[in-house]
Amino acid sequence: MSLKLPMYMDHAATTPCDPRVVEAMLPYFTETFGNPGSRNHSFGWESEEAVDKARRQVADLIGADRKEIVFTSGSTESNNIAIKGAANMYQKAPAGSGECRGHIITANIEHKAVLDPCKRLQKEGFEVTYLEPGPDGVFTKEMVENAMRDDTILVTLLWANNEIGTVNEIPEIGKLCHDKGVIFHTDATQWVGKMPTDVNEANVDLLSLSGHKMYGPKGVGALYVRRRRPRVRLVPITEGGGQERGYRSGTLNVTGIVGLGAAAEIAKNEMAADADRLLKFRNKMETEITKQLDTVQINGHADRRLPHMTNISFGFVEGESLMMACKDIAMSSGSACTSASLEPSYVLKGLGIGDDLAHSSLRLSFGRWTTEEEVDYAIKTIVEAVNKLRVLSPLYDMHKEGIDISKIEWAAH
Ligand SMILES: Cc1ncc(COP(=O)(O)O)c(C=O)c1O
Repeated sequence: MSLKLPMYMDHAATTPCDPRVVEAMLPYFTETFGNPGSRNHSFGWESEEAVDKARRQVADLIGADRKEIVFTSGSTESNNIAIKGAANMYQKAPAGSGECRGHIITANIEHKAVLDPCKRLQKEGFEVTYLEPGPDGVFTKEMVENAMRDDTILVTLLWANNEIGTVNEIPEIGKLCHDKGVIFHTDATQWVGKMPTDVNEANVDLLSLSGHKMYGPKGVGALYVRRRRPRVRLVPITEGGGQERGYRSGTLNVTGIVGLGAAAEIAKNEMAADADRLLKFRNKMETEITKQLDTVQINGHADRRLPHMTNISFGFVEGESLMMACKDIAMSSGSACTSASLEPSYVLKGLGIGDDLAHSSLRLSFGRWTTEEEVDYAIKTIVEAVNKLRVLSPLYDMHKEGIDISKIEWAAH
C-alpha cells in the first residue's frame, strides 16, 4: 500500500475524530436539536436524554458517578473552573485583606492552561509554589510533600506531560492531599482515553479532560468534580443560566457532548489494544534512531511515559532545518513560536536541556490509525535528514574529532 503524505504524527496536539463518533453526532445537528434545558417538550427531553447518556459514558471512562461530570468547552476551561473555583472556595483569607489568601502547589512545566490561571491567582493574593522537575521530568509524592505548608489549599499537577509524556505519581500525590485535607486537581488531558483511569483509586478531586485528544470533537471537554469524601465545591467563574450544577452556565453543546460520550465509550473498549500497538511503534522508533544516529537523547523518564509518544533531541542539527527536511511528517518541534522569535520549549528547558538541544527536539505522537509503514518511513526520513544536516556542521566534525565543544573559547571581534 502506498503511503499517504503528509503523514500525521502529532496526536498529542489533536486527534482526528473517529468516524463512529461523527456518526453518533450527526442526528443531533438537524433532527434531535432541542435545548436540553427545555423542560416542557419532547425536543428538549430527547436532547437531555442524549446528554445524560454521554455523562454516563464519560463517567464510566474515569470511574466516576455521572453526577460528578461537568461538561465544558475543553481542558482549558475545565482547568480554569477547577483552579480558580477551588482557590476562591477554599481561600484562607478574603480578597483585599492583605493576607496570603492560600498556598497553591503546581509545577513549572505544566501546560499554560494551568500556569496562567495560577499566575492570575498570584496577582489576586494567593501564593504559588512552582515545583521544578529533575532531569526525568516526573513529579513525586515526596516533592509535593516537601512543598506543603499549613496554608496549602490546592495542588494542581498534570497526570501526563503534553510535551514529553512523563507520568506523575498521581495516586500517591492524591493520597497525600487527602490525608492533609488539600484539594487535588489533575489536568489529565493527555492521559484520559489512552490509559486506564479511576478517580477513586487515584484520590483525585478534580480532573480535566478534552474531547479532541481522544478521537472526539474539538471544543468539548469535561471537569470531574468529586461529590463524596470530600464533597468538593467551587466558586463558579461564569454566571448565567446555572447549567451544569451552576459550574458552567451556558446552553450545552449537545452535538459535541454526544461525540465526547461516544469517544469515551470507544476509548474504554479499545485503549488497551491501542496502547500495546503504539508502544511497539514507539520502542521501534527510539531503538532505531538511537542505533542509527549518535548524539541523540530521548527526553523524559525511561519508563514512566505515555506509550504513544516520544520526544527526541538531536545534537548538532538546527531545529528549523530539521523540521523543513521532514516536511512530509506532521510533528511538533521543541520550539514555540512567540510573536517575535522562536523560543525553546520551557518544558525541555525545565528538565535542564540547553537551548540548542531544546530547539532541535522533535515530539512524535502516534494514534489509532498510525501504521508500522508510516513509522518506518518517519525513522528513515529523520535519520537521513539528521545525517544530511550534520554533513554541513563544522561543530559536528569537531565533536567527531573528540573536541569538547562546550570548552571552546570563541574569539570575539
Ligand atoms: C495537558 C493539556 N492541558 C490542556 C490543554 C488544552 O486543552 P483544550 O484544547 O481542550 O482547551 C492541552 C491541549 O493542548 C493539553 O495538552
